[in-house]
Amino acid sequence: MGVGIEVKELNAWYGETHTLRSISLKIPANHATALIGPSGCGKSTFVRCLNRMHETNPIARVTGSVKIGDLDIYHGVSPVVIRRRIGMVFQLPNPFPTMSIFDNVASGLRLNGFRNKKALDEIVERSLRRAALWDEVKDDLRRKSGASLSGGQQQRLCIARTLAVDPEVLLMDEPASALDPISTAKIEDLIFELKSEYTIVIVTHNMQQAARVAENTGFFLNGHLVEFDATTKIFTNPSDKRTEDYITGRFG
Ligand SMILES: Nc1ncnc2c1ncn2[C@@H]1O[C@H](COP(=O)(O)OP(=O)(O)OP(=O)(O)O)[C@@H](O)[C@H]1O
Ligand SMILES: [Mg+2]
Repeated sequence: MGVGIEVKELNAWYGETHTLRSISLKIPANHATALIGPSGCGKSTFVRCLNRMHETNPIARVTGSVKIGDLDIYHGVSPVVIRRRIGMVFQLPNPFPTMSIFDNVASGLRLNGFRNKKALDEIVERSLRRAALWDEVKDDLRRKSGASLSGGQQQRLCIARTLAVDPEVLLMDEPASALDPISTAKIEDLIFELKSEYTIVIVTHNMQQAARVAENTGFFLNGHLVEFDATTKIFTNPSDKRTEDYITGRFG
C-alpha cells in the first residue's frame, strides 16, 4: 500500500546555490501528485530529496524533514532502505542494456539477496503485468535484452524493475517526455492503475498530463513551492498570480 509523505521546511543546495527554499507540503497516500514549473525551478531536486538521491552528489546538502508514512527518512535510516521503499523512474529509460528482460526486473531483488527461484519467477511476472508489459515480452523474457525493446517498452521495463522490490512510493521524473503519444498514453493509464497500490509523485512539463493523471498539483518557481492544491483548482482557479501566469503560458 502507498503511504503519505510529509515534507517540512525542506531546503537543498548544490554548493553555494540554494536550490529549494523552505518547501513544506503533504502528499496524500494512494493518489498521484503532479509537480510542474519552468525548467530549473527545482522539481527534479525536490523528488531526489524524497528518496535521498540528492545526497549522492558530493556538493549537495539538505536540511528539513521528510516523513514517508511514519519513517523520518533523514534520521536514523540507511539510504539503501529508503531507496527500496521509494522507487524512482527517470526521464530517459535506463534498463541494464545487456541484461535480459527477466534479469532487469529481478535485479533489485537479487541485490537484496533474494534467491528463491520460483518466487522470483512469480514476482517478475507480476511486476511486468503491473507495468502493462507482460503480454509484449512474455515469450522473450530470457532471450531478449533490455536494450532490444522500444523506448516506451524500456520505460515500462524500468517501472516493472522498480515495482519488483515492492516500494510504497513511486517517484517519476518526466517519465513520458521522451516517448511517443501511444507510449505516453500507456504510461498515463498505468499511473491511473498503480495509484490504488502506490503513492505517486510525477514531474511533468505537460499540463494536460498533470490534469489527466493527478488529483493534486504543486507549482514550483525559483526553488519555491508557490502553490499546492487540487489539480482542478490549480488549472481553473489558482490562488497565486504567478501560477496563473504560468498555466496560461505567459512565462516559462
Ligand atoms: N548536479 C547539479 N549541480 C549543480 N547545480 C545543479 C545540479 N542539478 C541541478 N542544479 C541546479 O539546481 C536548480 C534546479 O534544478 P532542477 O534540475 O531541480 O530543475 P528542474 O525543475 O527539474 O528543471 P527541468 O524542468 O529542466 O528538469 C537549477 O538551477 C540547476 O542549475
Ligand atoms: Mg528536472
